[in-house]
Amino acid sequence: MDYGPAPEDDQAARAWLASHDARFNHFIAGTWATPAAGTSFDTHEPANGRLLAQLAQGTAADVGHAVDAARNALPAWQALGGHGRAKHLYALARMVQRHSRLFAVLEALDNGKPIRETRDIDVPLVARHLLYHAGWAQLQDSEFADWAPLGVVGQIVPWNFPLLMLSWKIAPALAMGNCVVLKPAEFTSLTALLFAELAHRAGLPAGVLNVVTGDGGTGAALVAHPGVDKIAFTGSTEVGRQIRQVTAGSGKSLTLELGGKSPFIVFDDADLDSAVEGIVDAIWFNQGQVCCAGSRLLVQEGIEARLVDKLRRRMQTLRVGTSLDKGIDLGAIIDPVQLARIRTLVEQGANEGCAIWQPTGLTLPADGNFFPPTLITGVAPASSLAQEEIFGPVLVTMTFRTPEEAVALANNTRYGLAASVWTETIGRALDIAPRLAAGVVWINATNLFDASVGFGGYRESGFGREGGREGVYEYLKPRAWSKLKPRASTQAPAPAANTEILPAASTLIDRTAKLFIGGKQVRPDGGGSQPVFAPDGRQVGEVGTGSRKDIRDAVAAARAAQGWSKATAHNRSQVLFYLAENLAVRADEFARQLGERAGMSADAAQNEVDLAVQRLFTYAAWADKFDGAVHQPPLRGVALAMHEPLGVIGIGCPAEHPLLAFVSLLAPAIALGNRVVVVPHPSAALTATDFYQIVETSDVPAGVVNIVTGDNRALLAVLAAHDDVDAVWSFGDSEQAAEVERLSIGNLKRTFVDYGRALDWQTRESEGFAFLRQAVQVKNIWIPYGD
Ligand code: NAI
Repeated sequence: MDYGPAPEDDQAARAWLASHDARFNHFIAGTWATPAAGTSFDTHEPANGRLLAQLAQGTAADVGHAVDAARNALPAWQALGGHGRAKHLYALARMVQRHSRLFAVLEALDNGKPIRETRDIDVPLVARHLLYHAGWAQLQDSEFADWAPLGVVGQIVPWNFPLLMLSWKIAPALAMGNCVVLKPAEFTSLTALLFAELAHRAGLPAGVLNVVTGDGGTGAALVAHPGVDKIAFTGSTEVGRQIRQVTAGSGKSLTLELGGKSPFIVFDDADLDSAVEGIVDAIWFNQGQVCCAGSRLLVQEGIEARLVDKLRRRMQTLRVGTSLDKGIDLGAIIDPVQLARIRTLVEQGANEGCAIWQPTGLTLPADGNFFPPTLITGVAPASSLAQEEIFGPVLVTMTFRTPEEAVALANNTRYGLAASVWTETIGRALDIAPRLAAGVVWINATNLFDASVGFGGYRESGFGREGGREGVYEYLKPRAWSKLKPRASTQAPAPAANTEILPAASTLIDRTAKLFIGGKQVRPDGGGSQPVFAPDGRQVGEVGTGSRKDIRDAVAAARAAQGWSKATAHNRSQVLFYLAENLAVRADEFARQLGERAGMSADAAQNEVDLAVQRLFTYAAWADKFDGAVHQPPLRGVALAMHEPLGVIGIGCPAEHPLLAFVSLLAPAIALGNRVVVVPHPSAALTATDFYQIVETSDVPAGVVNIVTGDNRALLAVLAAHDDVDAVWSFGDSEQAAEVERLSIGNLKRTFVDYGRALDWQTRESEGFAFLRQAVQVKNIWIPYGD
């Protein structure tokens, strides 16, 4: 017996295409806009290769037109206020629900994915995102009072979830008062154009949402446009890296949601039948063209044979077919190019000796881009199949013996988007989840999504979150920061003219401050030292000249101090209070030194020390209070949003406020469990090196705080390029900020920079939430209830 076809009616979608003669221009300023260059390209149905429509190829001129439209629309859109925008987002959600069938069919035609998925997953989630963010718009005035919208936002989405990614991007942006220029993927632009047209009809003001179609070149023009305040990108890690490079130093805010190679871990006490269904959802949902696809099956050794046998039997029942057939499990691959890429990678695996298995007797449609569900066993952890994102219906398996081995294998990837853990022992699941380097962890489940639960990666899977409260902050900036002025020159003071360079009176007993690495005062590797000058040009002491090697040692020490990230929040809080106590004990001495070295008046110096003590208290307070959240997505269960430390953070400090700025950057980072390598500004270096005596007496474990003095720009550059550093914060000058962002692309580390704007370290704008959120990444752990 075989299944007959159960096709979905495509009339409405075809009629919409016909109403546009299957030719589309850009949608700019509330109307269809002819492309400046007048060129177009074809878009096809992946299920049969037939021409679906012609789309405008966007140029820099089209992008400019759209950015202008968005900029013009901003004042009125912002003046509407939260409630006004909430009503629009609510109307958009309703609009999607009203036209849900049209959206679902058009998406399935354009993308090749099963109508069952667009109808039951993509489109309902789109409506949910709009509604959820209508809520945040409504609450904006009370919940985000200290935050301002960014302005014009450029958003670039991929082809695997065209409409869903559109909603993930535009909903928080519009809700918070930004205007958008969206560039859909060249393979799948139609639902974005339909959305823009219907949104306008639903009353969305002209220019608030603009759609410019085109290829990567169009995306690049959007990224490069100086009138864009933020880029939000979902796509390949390679392009994400290019975008980081191009935007470096521009001051554009950036979020990147990139690729993955997510582990699907099955322990020997898992419910194997459920796990098999989970695997089907993990890797054959959307033909495996999912950034968070569970593409690496890690099975505990004892059950491998049984699980693989069950899986093969289940795979025999999977049906591959054309997207509008309601009875299929897998549809078409997006494009012949992508199909060829999948074939090449699988062939490569076969050449490497892996065993490739596909269901027997499976018939694929004659036309179109189809690839059968594929299981590959005997894969070595280092093989390209285990490391490369295949982005197709291909699952590779590996085995492990112990939970430790499972964690090591799971984390043996440059990515960190998602993970799925299968075990009937909840204690084990909750022990494993925090140890996985992934932004999302599903327990006995997979591929669950909701607007209330943030989504996004660790490591080279990108940064920033979409969804949840944390996703909303990606479209805001601290209100106080938008008024900051560029900082005055931060050149280290030069020696006074015609003055003999002599150690200052207080340092006549020879004392060259050392570096502080791994809890020890160490001499710089190169053996050199350099003078430190007061603002009036007097030499006030000497510090060690740190080198590349010293930075490497400091990073290794920080990496080794992992215990700090696992320490209890209570413990970290206590250590920060202790730092404050010990600084207070030596307040007079610090104040005197600040007077002498930084030229501060006695009152100013005393105030600086008092504020530094207070700031340490603030972060001691936050250490055990900046905790996560429990979300209630629409399922029987919860999602735990955990605040996890980033790991090792490199910090470049500015010249001004030698003690207060240093403490203001160090304290939030360590309070939340990070280990740091701090590079002080040369003129402020002696204050930083005095501080290590406070660190030494305050129970701070070795390696948590490392201080390397010397040429700060050069040292920070080494940190920014170091692949074992997870984030770099740069406060100083704008060129330094640009360099840090540029050099961060290797491992796509997070950056937090001031672009050379002068923060007022003495006020509350320089402490608290804006810093704390930079010191953590949110991991969402989904825990469904029930048997
Ligand atoms: P891609 O990263 O090239 O394309 C994604 C989007 O970025 C598209 O809208 C594209 O036009 C645009 N784009 C391309 N180059 C750009 C540039 N230089 N500047 C700005 N925008 C640019 O991904 P592609 O080529 O479609 O797929 C290649 C691989 O990327 C896939 O095999 C898969 O491994 C990965 N990928 C990952 C996705 C994810 O969700 N994380 C989504 C799509 C692809």
